[in-house]
Amino acid sequence: MTFPRVLKHGKIEPITENIYWVRGSVKLKAPHPKFGPLTLQFSRNMTIIKQGDELILVNSVRLDEETLEQLDSLGKVKHVVRLAAFHGMDDPFYKNRYDVTIWSVNAPYFSGVDPNPPEAHYFAPDKLLSSKSLPPIPDLKYFEIGSGSLNEGLFYLERENGIAISGDSLQNWHQADENFNLTARFMMKKMGFIRPTGIGPGWVNAVKPDVSELFDFFDWGFETLIPSHGEPITSAASEAFRSSVEKIIDSKKIESRP
Ligand SMILES: [Fe+2]
Repeated sequence: MTFPRVLKHGKIEPITENIYWVRGSVKLKAPHPKFGPLTLQFSRNMTIIKQGDELILVNSVRLDEETLEQLDSLGKVKHVVRLAAFHGMDDPFYKNRYDVTIWSVNAPYFSGVDPNPPEAHYFAPDKLLSSKSLPPIPDLKYFEIGSGSLNEGLFYLERENGIAISGDSLQNWHQADENFNLTARFMMKKMGFIRPTGIGPGWVNAVKPDVSELFDFFDWGFETLIPSHGEPITSAASEAFRSSVEKIIDSKKIESRP
C-alpha cells in the first residue's frame, strides 16, 4: 500500500498541558487562467491531545520517522480525527501504522475537488463524529456546521476557559510561514487567506455554508483556538472570530443592496 509522502513539517511543540501541535504542509494544484495549473504549497497543522497514555491526532499530518519517534514518546496513538472534508489524506497512513480508530465528520474522503463520483472516494472512517459519538476525552464536545454542501466539524474542550480545534472553517494566518512556496505566498495573500481570525475563504467558496451557524459555537466561549491553518490563538478567540463572521454577514448585506 502506498501513502502520500511526508511533506515539509516542523517539530511537535506544546501549546498547553497535554495539548501539542505540529506545523506541516500540503501541496495542491490550482487552476490559473493564464499560467495553467500552479502548485501551491502551504501550511496545515495537526493537533495532538494526550489523554492518559493515549494520543488523539486531530487533522492528521504524516510525520517523518524522527518526528514519529517524538510522537511515540508522548503516548500511544489510538485515535485519529478528521474535522474537515478537504483533509484526511494522511489518515490511511496512521491507520496502517498504528492500531487506531479513525473518526470523521460525515463527509466522504474524496480525491480531487469533486466529492460526488464514488470512484473518487479513497478511504472510509471507522466511526462518524457526532455529539454522541466521540473519542474518549471526558471534557470533549463536538459542533458540526451542516448548512454547506459538505459538513465541517469543530472540537471543543471544556478546560482552561475553552479550547477549540478547527479544520478549514476558522483560520489564523498572520503571515505566510516557512511552509509556503513562493506561488502560495503570492496567490493566497491575494485570495484573502492570510489574515488573523479569518473564516476560511476556500471553504466558504467551495461549500457555501451559512456562516451564521458559527454563532452557536462561539456562544460556547473559548479563549484558545488551534486551527488547521495558521497559528494558535490563546486569548479571546471566540469573540475575535465572532466579529469576523459579523463582518462577512455585513459585507454580504451591502453587496445584496439594490
Ligand atoms: Fe484545509
